[in-house]
Amino acid sequence: MAMAAAAAASSQHLGLALITSLACLRGRAGAITSAASKLSYILSESAGYILREPICRPRSLSASATTQESVRGPSQAGPPSTDGGVIDTSPPRGTRDFPPEDMRLRTWLFNNFREVSSLFGFEEIDFPVLESEELYIRKAGEEITQQLYNFEDKGGRRVTLRPELTPSLARLVLQKGKSASLPLKWFAIGQCWRYERMTRGRRREHYQWNMDIIGIPGVEAEAELLSAIVAFFSKLGITSSDVGIKISNRKVLQEVLGRSVIPESSFAAVCVIVDKIEKIPRAEVEKELTALGLPVEAVDTILRALTLRSLDDLEELLGSDNEAVVELKQLFELARGYGFEDWLQFDASVVRGLAYYTGTVFEAFDRTGTLRAICGGGRYDKLLSTFGGVDTPACGFGFGDAVIVELLKEKKLLPELNHEVDDIVMPLEEELRPQAAIVAARLRTQGRRVDVVMGNKKMKWAFKHAERLQAKRMVILGSTEWTKGSVRVKDLSSREEKDLPLEEL
Ligand code: HAM
Repeated sequence: MAMAAAAAASSQHLGLALITSLACLRGRAGAITSAASKLSYILSESAGYILREPICRPRSLSASATTQESVRGPSQAGPPSTDGGVIDTSPPRGTRDFPPEDMRLRTWLFNNFREVSSLFGFEEIDFPVLESEELYIRKAGEEITQQLYNFEDKGGRRVTLRPELTPSLARLVLQKGKSASLPLKWFAIGQCWRYERMTRGRRREHYQWNMDIIGIPGVEAEAELLSAIVAFFSKLGITSSDVGIKISNRKVLQEVLGRSVIPESSFAAVCVIVDKIEKIPRAEVEKELTALGLPVEAVDTILRALTLRSLDDLEELLGSDNEAVVELKQLFELARGYGFEDWLQFDASVVRGLAYYTGTVFEAFDRTGTLRAICGGGRYDKLLSTFGGVDTPACGFGFGDAVIVELLKEKKLLPELNHEVDDIVMPLEEELRPQAAIVAARLRTQGRRVDVVMGNKKMKWAFKHAERLQAKRMVILGSTEWTKGSVRVKDLSSREEKDLPLEEL
């Protein structure tokens, strides 16, 4: 036995001889893989999709630090240095790296965004992350305009990293002008930057999926958008008992305000203040509203109107021919038609903190009440005219990537996403590298995902590697087989192995 092993060791068939015996390593490698995946889950929390604040100091004993050590030498704790010392390896506070395990999740999420958008007949667009600051100069006191990552560029222009996508969309619609045939149904997935106070699910950069419809004044547009949001949730396994969508209409406030003597120009500012009702004390909201010039009785009427939770009560307050009442009723009827009425709930306290909304406003929330808004949107029929264009009906929503991942984690709905390849190509000798290239190229033209073993690796390493990548086959090149025009192919699930001629690969 020992002699046979020695003979095998001396032969170029060492690798092939080891195939069968190494198969027993698969069990151990499996254990290693599962431990590794637990570790990568822990690590992933300090990278892309986290449940808590990122660690903003150099990591020392984490596995990722160990990996980096092997690349750049031993890590040294201490403040970031620019004088040739070791830099702080954390990304800037509130931002994320996306190592492969997080990138897989992000790609999966974005694919779902794209699939749903295309199911609803939307086309993808994109804009620059850097925009002109003037797109965001709005005077209603919105938080978002105070959170800009803005600066002067080298040409003296005021620019900013975009905090949202809607103004860029409006700019593009204006740029297209009459050449755009309405309605436009556009979607985008883009990174947004807001200098926010960080809380769970709120970061300084996030990706937003937006769907917008330009050119439709009726609520059939909102109904399509809401249907798309529900389709997305359902696709991921989230149900109406996990998530609800609160809906209201800014015309409710407009009507209430119209009954008092507030100038129309203050409307957006009132909405922005009222939106803070759940974040700051009521007395503070009252103070801010009276500072705008609202009489005490008007403030009281507004705040009472916000407590409404039923459409019947709203109808009683505003009358059945009030526009907000009519639109909300139409929207609920359409939702019944689409079959997602159970997701919706009228809630007059939803106003939204962005100045430009003019009609329907909505926000999706998790029913346990632990997370921030999952997505939000509404109608903004006047945004284009504030940019110098003509009033054009528009509505849409923004759906962030951070809160949904937390929700999926909580509901245990995150998919298991692995780095996968089909074949591992292993040349047993350095001289067989050109032949390995021929094999890999041939397999790739067939659409198979191929990983060629590089460097001077042993068979043991190659098998562990195959296990980690969940490869389906190991394609091994030995010179004896190659002179016969064959390669050795091992099926890694059945463990069967055979020599296959190159043309049958
Ligand atoms: P928004 O409510 O400001 O609306 O943001 C939409 C969504 O983006 C939020 O519901 C949340 O999922 C995500 N989000 C916002 N800020 C952050 C943050 N700091 N960290 C993580 N996620 C965040 C808008 O931006 C509108 N422009 C949406 C829209 C499109 N309305 C019409 N069309």
